[in-house]
Amino acid sequence: MVSVKSFCLIRFFAILAGISLAATASASVLSGIVHDPSGKPKANVFVTAQNGARKLAVTVLSDGAGRYRIDDLFPGQYELRARMSGFGDGVAIDVALGERDGMANLKLTADTADRKTTPGAAWLNALSNEPIKATFVTSCTICHDLASPLTRAPRSAEGWKEIVNKMRAQNDVYSVIVQTDDDKLSAWVAAQKFGARPAPFDAFAKGANVATKARLSEYAVGDVTSWAHDMAVDPRTGVAWVGDYVRDELIAVDPRTGEQKVYPAPVKGTGMHTLNFDREGYLWITFQLADKVARFDTRKGEWRVYEGLAKGTLVHSFALDSEGLVKRNAEGRITLSQFGGNRISLLDPASGDLKEVALPGSANGRPYGIAVDSRGTIWYTKYSENLMGFVDPASGQGKEWAMPRPDSGPHRMHIDNDDNLWIPLSGYGTILRYNTRSGARSEFALPDADAFPYAARYDAKSNRVWVTGNGGNAIYALDPATGKATTFRLPSLLSYGRMISIDYSTGDVWTALSSYPNKHALRDHGLLLRVHRALDLVR
Ligand code: HEC
Repeated sequence: MVSVKSFCLIRFFAILAGISLAATASASVLSGIVHDPSGKPKANVFVTAQNGARKLAVTVLSDGAGRYRIDDLFPGQYELRARMSGFGDGVAIDVALGERDGMANLKLTADTADRKTTPGAAWLNALSNEPIKATFVTSCTICHDLASPLTRAPRSAEGWKEIVNKMRAQNDVYSVIVQTDDDKLSAWVAAQKFGARPAPFDAFAKGANVATKARLSEYAVGDVTSWAHDMAVDPRTGVAWVGDYVRDELIAVDPRTGEQKVYPAPVKGTGMHTLNFDREGYLWITFQLADKVARFDTRKGEWRVYEGLAKGTLVHSFALDSEGLVKRNAEGRITLSQFGGNRISLLDPASGDLKEVALPGSANGRPYGIAVDSRGTIWYTKYSENLMGFVDPASGQGKEWAMPRPDSGPHRMHIDNDDNLWIPLSGYGTILRYNTRSGARSEFALPDADAFPYAARYDAKSNRVWVTGNGGNAIYALDPATGKATTFRLPSLLSYGRMISIDYSTGDVWTALSSYPNKHALRDHGLLLRVHRALDLVR
């Protein structure tokens, strides 16, 4: 936060001399009222209390009378921010919270010049609804949230062509940009005049089922160079683990204190991508750029690195069970997708032996989402080729076919206990349910048009499909019975959530917010997001 815009501090407590990161018995409450620029109390405003020393920010929403209340804060020095789309931030800096409670009122400003609060979905919503829009969304939102002013700066057709060429040549090691007529795509984007002001985004529109009682914590990790790509919560300890794709570091965040511990990777150039725990308590990590898989013992701090994957494999994801833990097949092997290899690998964790299963389709195929059904059949999607399919690992027989709609961008899927695949379609902002036994399918719209969902995670306990809905800065909990969703609004711009991790001991839902590079997300670090007791808040 850079400036004091408008604030009124009613009570002010002595600044603590030093901060110990240990949890203290005394926790304090910060409360107050948020006003609009004319001085009227304002509902549904994000109020964020940021504790720089702990790299922790806690957010709640103001109620119908503009009141907010943040419980359980550590004593310390805070920056407070009120934020709502359509207004400028109201900020209070140097709010010192002692062991007694504090109060501070905040006022939004009329200054909307920077439009920092307009989410990516609103910018995409302003584009004309032609088939080529899905090509653009699928190709570019896989890395960018279009709320980034760096990404959507207006350009001529030649200018956009230059950018598309640059992206293909420089950044697209994963070949996720759709093969298309680049002249046509560039001319279309230029004609959309991205610089124009999009329609206001009403995050609390009538009928929107927003979880207004949610408490959100964000933990800053790494630095400006980081790509904190994916995270997983340890089901035994509640500690959140995140891999830094660029800095080759595994970071543990204790949610009770915000304390962080960094474990360097045992090899360089890892490209730490996906993290998931297994039933034995080990943390599994794909080293995407190093063509390796690692297993980390969080209790002993010891690594085991599995070799044997071919160069350029771009090992991607683990097949998960319905609780989000790494799944074992009948032989005790774990199942991994090879994004760069058109293969699936079956790894024996004890011996390290690898079996490889070739997928149908082109040898250049790129499996992305992966799941194993109750019969042991492996299911997959191919993002940029817009395909889905299956393979039987015993016989090697399989089949693949086009997704129901063009350029749908099938992202990271999950399978439920009834063998339904839940596939996020980023090109259309929808979730496809595909029953692997019958082939029956239905598509569910997410509450925000033009959200580009990344990952779906079915949860039997809440009977919801949890979805990171990028562009809308949201996490959605979709109810398969009604097709309706509860929306958790997120306070950070360009949230870009990845895989969902659920802590069943608390009901908290977690993800990593990892728009990349950080400078495009207007941040100088990576972020972990925790929605407290989210499982209890779905309706
Ligand atoms: C695989 C990831 C990836 C994909 C896909 C991708 N980009 Fe990028 N993009 C990046 C990265 C990384 C940078 C930052 C490059 C830098 O700073 O040198 C970037 C930078 C940009 C910039 C900033 C200008 C510049 O020259 O650095 C624009 C504009 C942009 N991308 C547009 C697009 C568009 C349009 C698409 C879709 C056709 C797209 N990108 C697809 C990763 C990607």
